[in-house]
Amino acid sequence: MRVLVVGGTEFVSLHLVQALRRDGHDVAVLNRGRSPARLPAGVRALVCDRLDHGALARTLAGERVDALVDVAYAPTTAADVEALLRALEGRVGHALFVSTGRVHDHALPIPYHEDTPRSLYWGEYARNKIEGEDVLLRWHRERGLGVTLVRPTHVYGPLNTRNNETFFFDRLLRGRPILVPGAGGWLRQFGHVEDLADAMAAMLGVRAAFGQAYNVTGEEAVTQVGFVELIADVLTRPLTLVHRETPRGGASVPFGQNLAYDCHAVYTTTKVRSALGIRPRHTLPAGLAQTFEWYLREGLDRRPVDFTAEDALLR
Ligand SMILES: NC(=O)c1ccc[n+]([C@@H]2O[C@H](COP(=O)([O-])OP(=O)(O)OC[C@H]3O[C@@H](n4cnc5c(N)ncnc54)[C@H](OP(=O)(O)O)[C@@H]3O)[C@@H](O)[C@H]2O)c1
Repeated sequence: MRVLVVGGTEFVSLHLVQALRRDGHDVAVLNRGRSPARLPAGVRALVCDRLDHGALARTLAGERVDALVDVAYAPTTAADVEALLRALEGRVGHALFVSTGRVHDHALPIPYHEDTPRSLYWGEYARNKIEGEDVLLRWHRERGLGVTLVRPTHVYGPLNTRNNETFFFDRLLRGRPILVPGAGGWLRQFGHVEDLADAMAAMLGVRAAFGQAYNVTGEEAVTQVGFVELIADVLTRPLTLVHRETPRGGASVPFGQNLAYDCHAVYTTTKVRSALGIRPRHTLPAGLAQTFEWYLREGLDRRPVDFTAEDALLR
């Protein structure tokens, strides 16, 4: 298949490119060309800022693809998603949009399934993703374009550009305590980036996935404290938790980003399993262990980390 990936040189989209090449697809990427060295051999690069709709139309004028995967969040609005589809109008077979589990209304009881009402609980990010989803669904309804919405959550794994699991590695390796908001009992669900990439690769061109949305994440839910305990286990380091209330309107506490917010975030993955037979191959402990190996391999354990704010708070 000829596949165009918007993004392609970072975390989710780079893993996707690697999975597609592994599966023998002909892959092109579209990005601003800031990290060309990261592209695997044999991948064609189209250099363009997706927010520049004129440049996008010119860059994609001669392209015809079996599948398009819109990954890069720029932050991408509905107009940007629409401009991408227009730039490839009539020349794309299946369009897959990377949305987020955060489109679901997190004020409702967990778990969230694909038909749980969407809301602006997560603000501008949710608005952009919901409106982006709606653009694709409209193209499906009105023009018969094959579209699929993928809703990941808490993506972790090697090459993560966000300081999520690495935040805890940094502290546990140095014997530092971990700050936990309140009791640390809010539930989280994490998905390994390779499982997300494999799931998207497996969906391309699959007619059963047209017009559908899928939650794509791991199958285990874990509390905030349970997540940190698991990481300490993986690293075989002792764990000291320091519980703090989340301040209302005060100075922010340096909690890891995965701990920082006060609500459950749990999603059913029944639909993607039963309709498409897609399941993750990484359990959370095994995926964290593999991510820690990457962290050590990259020498990230030797990077300087500023603990000033944390030290002040702990004092
Ligand atoms: N990480 C999570 O936990 C999580 C959870 C749910 C959903 N998601 C979604 O997953 C997707 C992937 O996120 P990610 O962290 O892997 O990174 P990303 O958003 O895909 O961004 C990185 C890639 O996009 C390119 N890019 C950035 N701005 C661009 C622009 N204006 N025009 C063209 N290309 C651009 C970058 O290359 P250049 O810099 O060279 O342009 C790079 O290749 C996003 O849609 C995000 O909302 C992530």
